[in-house]
Amino acid sequence: MQRSFTINLGNIILSLSNAMDLANPELSQHQLRTAFIVWEMGRVANLNQQSLENLFSAAVLHDIGATSVEEMEALHRFEENDAGEHCARGWLLFKSVPWLAKEADTVLHHHRPWTAWDESIENPTAFNSQVILLADHVERWVDRGQYILHQHQKVIQKAREMTGHTIHPQVMELFQEASNREEFWLDLAAPRMYSLLLNRGPYKKADVGLDVVEDTAKLFCNVIDFRSRFTATHSSGVAAAAKLIAQLHGFTRNEVRLMEIAGNLHDIGKMAVPNRILEKPGKLDEAEMAVMKSHTYHSYEVINSINGMQQIAEWAAFHHEKLDGTGYPFHHDRDSLNLGSRIMSVADVFTALAEERPYRESLGKDKVMSILGGMAERDHLDRQFVALVGDNYSQISQQVVTQQAKAGEFYQDEFS
Ligand SMILES: [Fe+2]
Ligand SMILES: [Fe+2]
Ligand SMILES: [Fe+2]
Repeated sequence: MQRSFTINLGNIILSLSNAMDLANPELSQHQLRTAFIVWEMGRVANLNQQSLENLFSAAVLHDIGATSVEEMEALHRFEENDAGEHCARGWLLFKSVPWLAKEADTVLHHHRPWTAWDESIENPTAFNSQVILLADHVERWVDRGQYILHQHQKVIQKAREMTGHTIHPQVMELFQEASNREEFWLDLAAPRMYSLLLNRGPYKKADVGLDVVEDTAKLFCNVIDFRSRFTATHSSGVAAAAKLIAQLHGFTRNEVRLMEIAGNLHDIGKMAVPNRILEKPGKLDEAEMAVMKSHTYHSYEVINSINGMQQIAEWAAFHHEKLDGTGYPFHHDRDSLNLGSRIMSVADVFTALAEERPYRESLGKDKVMSILGGMAERDHLDRQFVALVGDNYSQISQQVVTQQAKAGEFYQDEFS
């Protein structure tokens, strides 16, 4: 375990943004590509480093409020009648994170045409929103099935037609200047957008500590959970349970914090699973289960792509592995599953049983412990952690209930 924990801000943001675009190949990298256009425009505008970073952060997560696969697809088809909904949710999510809060208004207004603004274009929120609005359209107009330099003139022409009513002339000028080299378009279409932004993008030197990573993990915990009202607090519950079990077992303070982050992110790969599967009451059929099995694969890939988070990736993403090797999708077994991963599995099953589901009530202590005990018996869960849950049942379940109630309040008041 490394002693001082720092993560590159670009690395974590790009990976999490990328995770949101997992499901549909047509949409893949929409936010990264939009952020690229925005970044190029910001450079032409000669924004200072801080303003550029703020604008970029808003761009790379601008659709964070569109949390389901289905919703993203609708946006991509320009069915924007209810675009306001994902903007308002994005605003709420940005507000909930200290280092993003200042860009919440930008996200709120990223579909607002210029004619609806009273402010001057010098107003940073108006400027940032307008830049993102234009970049978002340009990105979606690019036909991914067609060579980029056979279509870029048409896209520029289409953009120009927005001048005045939808986009401020000054913002349009920035775009024209940024996009007047073939290089701009070839970059935009390049499959290596992630590494391009990581290596050349605005976050090059921004290393952040554990507190920023915690806030960011909590943000994505909400993005995952709020996709479905049936599991709107699941990750919050798992994080609380895993944190406490780790603590009771004697993990260091630092490890306990990493465990909570892992709990908040353990299901991030569910971004790739459509809601009709996530929300299906009862048992999944074979084809649905096959899709479901990809979620921890993606959780691992996403978290492991962030330098310095390998430990967290293992703790988070192995929660459906079993000690006898019959879990999914990696088929790790007792030789390869470390303590943190074993804790996460127990925390996940415990929370799932103890929380309400659309098809059943929450289960009481006797029922939960008998199921956990059975799984330990069959060599699916680690018996020492099942025993630890049994010995500290009321403390753990109270902690989980408290954290889930907190997350539930945020969800109920603001989101549903
Ligand atoms: Fe949007
Ligand atoms: Fe978008
Ligand atoms: Fe899971």
